[in-house]
Amino acid sequence: MKRKSRPQAAPTKRTAATREASKARPVVGLIVGSGFAHLALPLPAAAPAETPYGPTSSALAGAAVGGRDVWCLARHGAAGSIAPHAVNYRANVWALHAAGVRWCVAINVVGAIAPGFAPGELAIPDQLIDYTAGRAATFAGRGEAVRHVEFTEPFDPELRGYVAAAAADCGLGIRRGVYGVTEGPRLETAAEIDRLERDGCAMVGMTAMPEAVLARELGLSYAICAAAVNYAAGRAPQGASIHAELDRYLAVAMSRVARLLKALIPRLHDAAM
Ligand code: HPA
Repeated sequence: MKRKSRPQAAPTKRTAATREASKARPVVGLIVGSGFAHLALPLPAAAPAETPYGPTSSALAGAAVGGRDVWCLARHGAAGSIAPHAVNYRANVWALHAAGVRWCVAINVVGAIAPGFAPGELAIPDQLIDYTAGRAATFAGRGEAVRHVEFTEPFDPELRGYVAAAAADCGLGIRRGVYGVTEGPRLETAAEIDRLERDGCAMVGMTAMPEAVLARELGLSYAICAAAVNYAAGRAPQGASIHAELDRYLAVAMSRVARLLKALIPRLHDAAM
């Protein structure tokens, strides 16, 4: 029997102070990639939700962040075992849309390309270049009229503004720049990173697409908080390995993401009221 695609766990741990504010359904959906475990979010324990596009990566789990309820979804699955090219982006975005969120904030780890952008630091991508191939990148094609969605600004400028304001609230420096989306799961060659840099990419990751365009197709406001966890191929000082100190950089970057989210979620909640 097909499970309903509704979120499967009610947001938990409401305090008297937050109960009033969170009477409404959560307005924010978090899609969290690698580094999920560092964010002290509840692991979505229930089975993934079934959608018209197949199962989500994980159940939507209710969580309280900054005293407000959010839905969160583990992009790579509860066990972290779904590779970037194998993520069911359509199911994930569809489930958040069905849950009624307005804002979709994605947390994506990236490799740092731009000079001066270092692992452990955060960025708000303002543009993307899609180098992926063969991913299911549209909800269209099931008989409905084809729509050519506007994608000049792939990330919602209003939501990017809220992310930037939250970073400023916490005293966090945050970069902007172009996110190059590669197919993976292998990392890039140094020559590929040279090409991405010539193309204007400040960072490289594997998961911004088709997530961003699917959110746009469904009218969700979508933006990414990118966390640099390594120097991109050929960019590490003194030829150090890409994986050098990855765990340390991941921990540093995710502790910054956690601070930023605590400031961001109440802002988004208030903005949606
Ligand atoms: N390349 C692609 N995706 C990534 C990287 C990288 O160096 N680091 C984290 N995600």
